[in-house]
Amino acid sequence: MHHGCVSQQTDGAHLPEQTLAALCAAVGPSHVLTDPDLRSTYETDWSRRFHGIAAAVVRPASVEEVGAVVEACGKVGAAVVPQGGNTGLVGGSVPRAAAPRDDRGSPRPPVVLSALRLRDLEAVDEVAGEVTVGAGVTLGTLQEHVQRAGWDFGVDMGSRDSATVGGMVATNAGGVNVVRYGVMRQQIVGSEAVLGDGSVIRRLPGLVKDNTGYALGSLMAGSEGTLAVITRLRLRLVPQLPRRTVALLAVDDAGHAAAFAAQLRRSLATLTAAELFDDDGMRLVLEHAGGQRPFRDAHPRYLLIECAAASDPTDELVDAIAAVASRDAVVASDEEGRDRLWKLREGHTEAVNAAGVPHKLDVAVPIGRIGQFDMEVREAIRGVDPEARTFVYGHVGDGNLHVNVLGPDPDDESVDDAVLALAIQMGGAVSAEHGIGVAKVRWLVPDRGEPDVAAMRAIKRALDPDDRLNPGVLFRG
Ligand code: FAD
Ligand code: MLT
Ligand code: ZN
Repeated sequence: MHHGCVSQQTDGAHLPEQTLAALCAAVGPSHVLTDPDLRSTYETDWSRRFHGIAAAVVRPASVEEVGAVVEACGKVGAAVVPQGGNTGLVGGSVPRAAAPRDDRGSPRPPVVLSALRLRDLEAVDEVAGEVTVGAGVTLGTLQEHVQRAGWDFGVDMGSRDSATVGGMVATNAGGVNVVRYGVMRQQIVGSEAVLGDGSVIRRLPGLVKDNTGYALGSLMAGSEGTLAVITRLRLRLVPQLPRRTVALLAVDDAGHAAAFAAQLRRSLATLTAAELFDDDGMRLVLEHAGGQRPFRDAHPRYLLIECAAASDPTDELVDAIAAVASRDAVVASDEEGRDRLWKLREGHTEAVNAAGVPHKLDVAVPIGRIGQFDMEVREAIRGVDPEARTFVYGHVGDGNLHVNVLGPDPDDESVDDAVLALAIQMGGAVSAEHGIGVAKVRWLVPDRGEPDVAAMRAIKRALDPDDRLNPGVLFRG
């Protein structure tokens, strides 16, 4: 087995010996992985739909080491693919199936830059309610760290044990608490990152208000590894809300779920989540993970609501759901009962993945049109592939639906096209929280329009003129 400065043949795009030596000098030989067995988990995405071959996986442990890696790769035109927890769902965290090419058409060796060793955890700033952490810290570790200091973090999601804060900023992750705290961009107070030429941009003083020029940290949010390698973040914290109650409402359709979520947002100041799933999805979760149906009868759709506060929110939640016309409802305020209900929703991603290689379409839809979209998208998918299995779930309170399709070949994009075209036609967006990655590159212009994409390309050219960082993500190479 090799790791260190030993060159391994990839698909024709390999690194010169002197570059491998420079990488080894920068991060230490045991953190330059060239052996195919050691590289493999970094080369395939979580859904198994996207994969490529890396000339090396490099694991720097400091901003200086990241800078040295980016510079060494830049000298030979190698493409740097930043990677955090590799839980992204649009293929942006792994090398492309076909290595990117340079101006003369020669393949550029892809190097995965893993941020997992950037895991500093600074002490919580109790006065500001902020914390500074390395980009490779996982969400779960961040949560434990800030909870020990009596605080909490405003973004939460099912991939918490693997997803990193750097990856979450790079994708502008959303998750289950957006109705209360907003998306990842809204948690950023400061950032540090390495640009394509190896230079470092840093703004970490932790100022709540700071209008001193362009907000570069905000620009990092949703940049998907194409503008900079994020190395450190200063994040806003939120109060810990120890009393939680979850309700599951059985509803007629997704339109009702969206309308009820809107009504509950108005009446419940303690609302933290409003999530949707369908009965096929719930059955799949129960088959995969075990567990009991929450209701005796099957219902078309389910709306999961969570309230959190310093004092028990159960009474106000029960009063509020009594005022909406659901078919049935269960409420849980004990930890075990809450977890049981949450698993029905959060278990979808794993259950769908276990049943096949899914086409995962993460769309935003105007909230008033969720019901219509949910009906029409199923019809559109049947029109493309009558045998396909469709599961629709997501963050209905934010107008964000995850349309998951099993059946069509992973490389056949017709079902993706049908879903994304409908999202645009209905005034939505082709990505709500997962990003564009490589999966939706063809859909960036139809969704955003030429002038927006030209502006984005201008920003990319300014910060990464040689297209060193994640070529092929967001834009066609
Ligand atoms: P990766 O997958 O490693 O990378 C994602 C993108 O960010 C890539 O383009 C990569 O190049 C870039 N990147 C990573 N690190 C850096 C860095 N340090 N600097 C620059 N660029 C970087 N997403 C949601 O938004 N909401 C959810 O509710 C949600 N739930 C999920 C549940 C499960 C079970 C799974 C598997 C995924 C879920 N996701 C969800 C998707 C995923 O977890 C997020 O997109 C997450 O933000 C990715 O973080 P990561 O560290 O795994 O990044
Ligand atoms: C979710 O909300 O469960 C995630 O975004 C992952 C998925 O889409 O499966
Ligand atoms: Zn989601």
